Amino acid sequence: MLITITVPRLGWTMEEGTFVGWLKQDGEAVREGEPLFTLDGDKALQEIEASDSGILRIPPEAPKPGSVVRAGDLLGYLVAEGEELKSKPAPAQVRQSSGPFVDAAPVDAVTTPQQPADEISALPSSAPERAVSPGARRAASLLGIDAAQLQGTGSGGRARERDVLAASRSRPQEFTRPKASFSLQDKIAIVTGAASGIGAAIADAFAEAGAIVYVADINESGVAEKVKQIEKSGGRARLALTNVAEQASCEALIRRVLSECGSCDILANNAGVGHVGTILTTPPEELARLWSVNVQGMYFLSRAVLPSMIERRRGSIINMASTLGLTAMEDRFAYTITKHAVVGLTRSMALDFGPTGVRINCICPGRVETPFVQARLREYPDPEKFRAQMVATHAQKRMAQPWEIAAAAVYLASDESAFMTGSTFVIDGGYLCGK
Ligand SMILES: NC(=O)c1ccc[n+]([C@@H]2O[C@H](COP(=O)([O-])OP(=O)(O)OC[C@H]3O[C@@H](n4cnc5c(N)ncnc54)[C@H](O)[C@@H]3O)[C@@H](O)[C@H]2O)c1
Repeated sequence: MLITITVPRLGWTMEEGTFVGWLKQDGEAVREGEPLFTLDGDKALQEIEASDSGILRIPPEAPKPGSVVRAGDLLGYLVAEGEELKSKPAPAQVRQSSGPFVDAAPVDAVTTPQQPADEISALPSSAPERAVSPGARRAASLLGIDAAQLQGTGSGGRARERDVLAASRSRPQEFTRPKASFSLQDKIAIVTGAASGIGAAIADAFAEAGAIVYVADINESGVAEKVKQIEKSGGRARLALTNVAEQASCEALIRRVLSECGSCDILANNAGVGHVGTILTTPPEELARLWSVNVQGMYFLSRAVLPSMIERRRGSIINMASTLGLTAMEDRFAYTITKHAVVGLTRSMALDFGPTGVRINCICPGRVETPFVQARLREYPDPEKFRAQMVATHAQKRMAQPWEIAAAAVYLASDESAFMTGSTFVIDGGYLCGK
């Protein structure tokens, strides 16, 4: 059996059964009933230093009373819950100091001490009982949580470190959209899929940053509404009914922008569609539909606008990819293919046109709260259950708001991102960190 010793700092309140150790002087005798075990002090210190947790695991060996300890031997005592480590211990203050240590339950409490064992003296009797463990207290002060208010999982409801972390995770995260900080003043921008979700947020953010925004979408009432909203907020927007899956429609849009404005500074290729299914449940027409909107739309528009950008030796093309452009997910066969293609298209264009001053980047969002996600959820028998699963795949345990993706688009469109091209700008709340 291995015993866990936690070497505490002075002033800490002990966990129930915390084992407190210190180094004895060379030649000191072990008194009757005093130590529960000894171990080599140097080795102990090395182990403590090597462990991230500051916890030392030792085999239980009770030294005999009367035996003389070597310099650096670490002697330990069990103290009661709630006691505080204040000063050098006296035998009278040792709560449990006899009997073989193997009879005591191994201590599972975890704290993270930093103080070397030879600086630790030890055990008072007068400290008040507290309902918060030392680890919980430290975590609480870092995280700004009142640990004393928590119903903990320790004995008698005492809050432990893990309770504080759980409380911190369940706190609502509040983020408000800051005002645009990068200027796009008087730049000419096209945003596709701008009637809804992320595209609508990009159109808003571009207009707020000073751009003239062509609101391009296949949804007639949606584009009209978005243009109205932008103008109402003091921005400049133009309605551009467009089907990105059609080459003629894409070319007509670029011709119009160039003839009305003389140039195009920003193309945000955002329009996209999804589908739930494996290779076996994705019929050819679904794969073709996703390919035509998600990939060919970018191809048609980029191909049409690029010559004018190259001529001016400036321009920013922003392609909306996805984390599924970098990894795969079950049941997203067609979508994953198309988003990987967006990453490839972006990198290939960036490489070919790097020296021209035209920059081509893509954004890889995790889940974003938009009608797109609602539509995918409806394809599952239990949408709420699947929604909870989706949320759980992100380290932040939430989905993004559309403005959080739009903020990246503003940066990529701005001159501040002048050295960025061919990048896969990941904004995923930690989705790609691991599962
Ligand atoms: N929402 C997410 O979780 C998420 C995550 C990663 C990437 N994305 C990508 O972000 C982009 C926007 O997604 P969203 O969530 O805002 O979706 P959304 O469904 O809210 O909006 C998509 C918009 O694209 C338009 N559109 C569809 N087909 C079109 C076409 N042929 N021509 C022109 N417009 C067309 C729709 O009318 C709609 O207004 C998509 O490329 C999507 O793949 C979304």
